[in-house]
Amino acid sequence: MNKWIKPKPIALISVFVMLFVLIGGALVTKTGSGLGCGRSWPLCEGQLVPKNITPELLIEFSHRLVTGVAIIFVGLLSIIAWRQYQHVRETKFLVVMTIVFFILQSLLGAGAVLFEQTSLIKALHFGISLVSFASVFLLALIIFNFDDKFHTKQLTIPKKLRIQFYGIFTYTLIVVYSGALVRHKEASLACIDWPFCFNNEPFNFSSLGLEQWIQMTHRFFASLLLIWVIGLLIYIWKNYRDHTFIKNGWLLASILIVLQVVLGGLVIITLKNTTIALMHALFISLFFALLSYFMILCNRSAKKD
Ligand code: HEM
Repeated sequence: MNKWIKPKPIALISVFVMLFVLIGGALVTKTGSGLGCGRSWPLCEGQLVPKNITPELLIEFSHRLVTGVAIIFVGLLSIIAWRQYQHVRETKFLVVMTIVFFILQSLLGAGAVLFEQTSLIKALHFGISLVSFASVFLLALIIFNFDDKFHTKQLTIPKKLRIQFYGIFTYTLIVVYSGALVRHKEASLACIDWPFCFNNEPFNFSSLGLEQWIQMTHRFFASLLLIWVIGLLIYIWKNYRDHTFIKNGWLLASILIVLQVVLGGLVIITLKNTTIALMHALFISLFFALLSYFMILCNRSAKKD
């Protein structure tokens, strides 16, 4: 490989660019810029460099440019990982996941521009982007030799704990889908009160419309996730005190999920402030990436049993 192409900078840039793609996609829908380039893809308004610049066009066009940069870096990262890091067991699998999910993510993005999509399909986009980001993040950890630095190769996660981590991983995807549905069904501000939709009539469920049900389901699912993650933290700290990585790693995951819930509340209090809403998308991406690393560790431990 060319001596100018260094694995670590490529890995680091890939992670950041993928994060920009993910958050950029959220920005596109939040600002209603999805059709900023018209129903035209990959060109914008049928042109390489568009002429009539509107704020929506600028947001959509920048998102496409960042995606273009991501294709280059993620492509390079995949080649480097495939050629130089095959000694790590998960490399091949992660390269395949990265490529497949990146293509899926791009197709869904292009599909949203070219065709009318239902909210149910649009909501899938965020989950797929999340998996795509997590695969790139995990490849970067391999390139940075994270396992050796944190001695995680020697780590064995007991079966009891593994089941909890697998469960939380799957359930997180459900909560994520419910959140993405809130956005795409335009149910973000369907319930202005908190914790109930209408605090003066908390149990009057018959008066709730579809958007309000979607919003309240997301909150309900999210609160169960919070309880599960914190409950597991208490359990780990009581029973696995000497497993430093699991203890501290799960403490970090718990902090991220608490911040996620606080940000969810703030989205409503601030009437969907764009920065807060983008941070709500950012923190779950970080939580999910960390959780994905736990999945790798669980998988390795299962192989040892
Ligand atoms: C474990 C906690 C939570 C997770 C994993 C989660 C996840 C998500 C995800 C993935 C989205 C879609 C983001 C996007 O497409 O940009 C979303 C949107 C949203 N969530 Fe949550 N959420 C959580 C907690 C909460 C809570 C507690 C609330 C409210 C009290 C909340 C309110 C919202 C709202 C209003 C949106 C729509 C934001 C928008 O329109 O941009 N979330 N959530």
